[in-house]
Amino acid sequence: MVQIAMANELPPSAPHRAVRSGVRPRTRAGRCTVGSDLGRRIGVLISGRGSNLQALIDAIAEGRLRAEIAVVIANRADAAGLARARTAGIETITIPHRDYPSREAFEETLIAELRARRVALVCLAGFMRLLGATFLEAYPNAILNIHPSLLPAFPGVDAQRQAWTYGTKVAGATVHLVTGELDGGPIVMQRAVAVPDDDTPDTLAARILDVEHQIYPDAAQLVLDGGWRIEGRRFRRA
Ligand code: GRF
Repeated sequence: MVQIAMANELPPSAPHRAVRSGVRPRTRAGRCTVGSDLGRRIGVLISGRGSNLQALIDAIAEGRLRAEIAVVIANRADAAGLARARTAGIETITIPHRDYPSREAFEETLIAELRARRVALVCLAGFMRLLGATFLEAYPNAILNIHPSLLPAFPGVDAQRQAWTYGTKVAGATVHLVTGELDGGPIVMQRAVAVPDDDTPDTLAARILDVEHQIYPDAAQLVLDGGWRIEGRRFRRA
């Protein structure tokens, strides 16, 4: 069941309309057309608290990110970030992955909702589902993720604790394009934080989260501005 809610409305139970006629990114191999061709409409996918979503909302409000969040989609009805979106007047949709018989069916529904709203760039913000080929092929080079480590170090869950446990003296956050490899796509932006001796996993995670909130809007702006290309694994501005 897909639940759609406009801002400041109680989430109504809405039947899913299989809208499949949205704009599709026209991306030549390795060359970016996001932004320049498709406008600046973002779709944000969340599963939880949504602090990175809030950072995107705030950056747009402050004019630091020239974009519009067309929709926020959660795969969990209890995702706290949904309330943040509604407060900001952004349409929200809940698409519980468990309602679908397969990953493909779930992703086809996501794609239909995003295309119906002419989303050009998908921002994953604590979205706890792996995306498969169906979704990746629908949005080639147009999906961003934020990860709380300096990739390629510490991919996967609980990256901040992984870094702390390992004993690194520097940790940080990464925004990258999403590919089929877990936390493995071309790196768009990174920022480091020091790990002092008296850090705990929680204080380190809080410092990294602060950095995440700074770099995610900046990286989204960079990608939407276009004029970049992928060379091998490298994201390069012209
Ligand atoms: C962030 O640490 C992000 O890097 C990771 O999931 C967390 C999401 O937090 N992918 P929030 O929901 O944005 O607050």
